[in-house]
Amino acid sequence: MQRTFIILKPDCVQRRLMGEVVSRFEAKGLNFVAMKMLRITPELAKQHYAEHVDKGWYPNLEGFITGGPVVAAVLEGLDAILVVREMLGATNGLKAAPGTIRGDFSSSQQMNLVHGSDGPESAAREIALYFNEDELCDFEPTITPWMRAADE
Ligand code: CDP
Ligand code: MG
Repeated sequence: MQRTFIILKPDCVQRRLMGEVVSRFEAKGLNFVAMKMLRITPELAKQHYAEHVDKGWYPNLEGFITGGPVVAAVLEGLDAILVVREMLGATNGLKAAPGTIRGDFSSSQQMNLVHGSDGPESAAREIALYFNEDELCDFEPTITPWMRAADE
């Protein structure tokens, strides 16, 4: 099992697409183990997007990500990091494949609705940045035997 971190970005919240996005992850078989609504501060944005802080487009990104409430969550599942990234699609909504979240609902490079960790190290770093250990709810959903074979 693997954990990954997602953010329903301000455009997702404002456009009333939270339910749609949560529903897709649930239907896929991913388990939500933590979730909270918050307002990202400029300081948190710089930590979260540390790899992008020096880019010319970073100030616009910071304005966007701090511009309204977001929902941060932790998802658990087999290959969860890759599965979520594939479900999100390419960064630019105009280039993201139909059937992906960004491909179906975004026509923007910036306003692409959902963030997902891009690897095990960023997942661990981002989960720790937004959640305390005691905010992560470990549980075994009773539906698991109907989601995959026991040896998968
Ligand atoms: O989110 P992802 O890993 O697919 O993309 P990224 O290249 O790591 O960029 C992080 C986020 O910055 C994107 O999801 C966009 O919201 C935003 N971005 C932007 O505003 N302008 C760009 N030229 C590229 C990305
Ligand atoms: Mg990225």
